[in-house]
Amino acid sequence: MQVRDFDPATADGDAFTDWLAVLNEMTEADMPGEPRWCDDRLGDYLSVTMPDEARVAWSAYDDDGAIAGHANLLLFGGDFAHTGVFEIFVRPSARGLGVGRALLTELAKHAAADGRQTISTEVIATTPAVGFYERLGFSRAVVEWRSLLPMSNVDWSRTSLQARQVSAPYRLEYHRGGLPDGLHERYAATKANLRTAGPQASEWRGSSDAVRLRDSLATLRGRGLRTHLVVAVHEKTEQVAGLTELVVAAQRPTRGDQYDTVVAPAHRSYGLALAMKARMLTELRSAEPQLRDVQTWTALENSPLEHVNAQLGFEQDVHWYEYEATVSDLLDSLR
Ligand SMILES: CC(C)(COP(=O)(O)OP(=O)(O)OC[C@H]1O[C@@H](n2cnc3c(N)ncnc32)[C@H](O)[C@@H]1OP(=O)(O)O)[C@@H](O)C(=O)NCCC(=O)NCCS
Repeated sequence: MQVRDFDPATADGDAFTDWLAVLNEMTEADMPGEPRWCDDRLGDYLSVTMPDEARVAWSAYDDDGAIAGHANLLLFGGDFAHTGVFEIFVRPSARGLGVGRALLTELAKHAAADGRQTISTEVIATTPAVGFYERLGFSRAVVEWRSLLPMSNVDWSRTSLQARQVSAPYRLEYHRGGLPDGLHERYAATKANLRTAGPQASEWRGSSDAVRLRDSLATLRGRGLRTHLVVAVHEKTEQVAGLTELVVAAQRPTRGDQYDTVVAPAHRSYGLALAMKARMLTELRSAEPQLRDVQTWTALENSPLEHVNAQLGFEQDVHWYEYEATVSDLLDSLR
């Protein structure tokens, strides 16, 4: 078996076909209910990053030259320059042969050489990846519920009503692909109320200042991820009272990823979260007609959003773990 660098900027069509085959065989084996991946803008998805980030990737090949698995490591910048997030996928037919270990070794060495202290990854609790990361000494840093809402289960008359139930001092605005000029600063100020944890798209991490927010939105566009934003504006002050963000990837267009929803403290208890998320669903119905479901994540207990999600029809379905390791410890355990 051989592990080679994978550079999406120079990779050819066959390399992307191989990359995709691993993802879809893995999905079929480990999480058959999850949507399959397609090759639409896969190169952009794997190569575009925030200006201060870098993604490195590797492919593993068996002795006959067939792809056995792949891995990628995203190296954050700025406040997160001590860490990185990674993914490893091994074809079901190539498992138990040391491919995952070889890919992890390669990426841990790269992380160490790049000065990273820790690395982490997201894992669905029902998959074999749990045993792998536990075996290699990772610790569970975050556990969250993943909730799913199939679009076919949405009660559209109730949801439309919820979307219109906005108290008098507020109005909702829907923006697709980005924000109008002048809104970024006010949006970022409200976003600063949120401590981002869990499986958020890396682009959203720290997007609580206007410059970073613009970069985030451009990066998402560059990767083929379509953003949908609903903003609650306080009409008297024109401040952003709340926001909710959803992304649909060209590479998995039947699935919506509902990321952050936040209401600024002064504007809580007015029902804005429910109204914004309901409005989001009504907009998606026409903007993304191919969408089959929306997923979102909440804390295990006492998440105020859980109640809102339940009112919209979301159902908790599986735990998601964030596994983390100190790079030096990991290299020791891989030796
Ligand atoms: C997790 C995964 C990468 C493991 O790949 P693999 O090539 O089969 O793993 P390896 O053969 O290199 O195994 C390395 C070690 O982990 C152990 N291991 C692997 N899978 C395991 C499991 N499910 N339970 C317990 N131990 C496991 C192996 O026994 C081996 O231990 P050893 O080296 O001490 O003998 C693979 O199952 C996979 O691709 N899963 C789906 C991908 C996924 O869900 N990724 C999540 C996002 S990163």
